Amino acid sequence: MVTVLSPRPDLWSLDPAVVHLNHGSWGAVPRRTQEVLSALRAEAEANPMRWFRSVPERLTAARLELAAFLDADPAGFALVANASAGITAAFATVPISTGTRIVTTSHVYGASRYAAERVARARGAELYVVDLPMQADDDTVVALIEPALVGASALLVDHVSAATGAILPIARLVELAHDRDVPVIVDGAHAPALIDAPTGDGADFWTGNFHKWPAAPRATAGLVVAERWRTASYPLITSWSEYDERLPERFDMQGTQDYAAWIAAPESLRVLAELEWAVRRPQLTAMLEEGAALVAKALGTSVGELANPAPTLRLVELPSVIADAEPFKARFSREHQIEITLTGYEGRSYLRLSAHAYNTPECYRKLSVALPKVLA
Ligand SMILES: Cc1ncc(COP(=O)(O)O)c(C=O)c1O
Repeated sequence: MVTVLSPRPDLWSLDPAVVHLNHGSWGAVPRRTQEVLSALRAEAEANPMRWFRSVPERLTAARLELAAFLDADPAGFALVANASAGITAAFATVPISTGTRIVTTSHVYGASRYAAERVARARGAELYVVDLPMQADDDTVVALIEPALVGASALLVDHVSAATGAILPIARLVELAHDRDVPVIVDGAHAPALIDAPTGDGADFWTGNFHKWPAAPRATAGLVVAERWRTASYPLITSWSEYDERLPERFDMQGTQDYAAWIAAPESLRVLAELEWAVRRPQLTAMLEEGAALVAKALGTSVGELANPAPTLRLVELPSVIADAEPFKARFSREHQIEITLTGYEGRSYLRLSAHAYNTPECYRKLSVALPKVLA
C-alpha cells in the first residue's frame, strides 16, 4: 500500500495569501535551502578572503552531488548559471558551417531559439523549424524530424516542451541524428526531477535547470557534455580555469561571482528526498489531472491531450486566444491572488498549470472559480 503524502507548504516561504500554480517558470526555494544560502552569504561577508579560499572545494562537493542526482557522468558534468547559458555554450562548441541548417521544432523555447539564430547568423547557416502537432506521438515526432536532418549541422530539441509540457523522445532522436552525423543539443530546462536519469540518452550536449523542479536556488543549472566534445567545450566567461584540462573544473570558476547558490543547491535535493519525491511525484500528477479537469470544466474547454505529458505540467485550453499574456497574468494576480502562466501552441492559448509539494487540491478549485469570471 502506497501512503498518500500530505502537501508540505510549510517547507516553503511562499505567501499563503497567494495561490501558486506556476512552479514551472521560476521554481520556488524551500526555507531550508534559503537558510543554507543565507548562512553561506553571511560567511562570505564575514571574511571574503576565507570564503573564496573555500569555494573550489565546496563547489566540487556540490557539483558531484548535483551530477549524481541526474545520474550523469561527473567527468562530463559542468555547472552553468541556467539552461540558456548551457545552450549558448553548446552552440559555441558545435561546428556550424556555412550553408548548413540548424534544425529545431515548433516546441523550441524562445530564448533557446535566439541562441540558435545567433549562431546561424554568424556562420551563414539557416534555422529550420519542424512543426510538430501538439498531440504527436513518438513515431510521428521521429518521422517528421527525419527528413529535416538532411544538410543539418545540429539538432536542438526540448526534453520537456515549455510550450506544452510534452516529453520528446530524446533517445530515438539522438539515434536518428547520430546515424546522419548530426550533433544533438538537448534543452532539458524542465527535466531535472521530472525525468529520471535524464542525461542518459547519448546527446552531445544536454542542459537542465536545478532551479525549476528540484527547487534549488536560482542560477543553478547543469551542462552535460558527451566525451568527444569535452576538450573543446568552454564556459561563456573566460577566467582563471581556462587551461584546466578537465571539463567540470574549467566551468567551475568564472571570475568573481556569487557561488553560494551552487554550493547551497544540494540542500534542495535533500528536501526532495525528505518529500519522498519518487512516491510523491505520481501523486502530484493525479492531483494536477483532477485540478486541470476541474478548471477546464469551469471554462467549458478541455485539458490539452498529449502523447507523453510531463508529470507535473498540464495544459488547459482557454476559451479564446489571449494575445498579450503578461498584462493578463499581472492583472489576474493583482485581482485574485492567483499566479498562473499562459502558453500558446498552434494558434491556441492555454493555461499551463503546475503541481509541486506545496500545492493542494484547493489551489485548483480556487482557480476554477476565479478564472471563468475573468474570461466570461
Ligand atoms: C524549455 C526551456 N528552455 C530554456 C529555458 C530557459 O531557462 P533559464 O531561464 O533558466 O535559462 C526555459 C525556462 O523556462 C525553458 O522552459
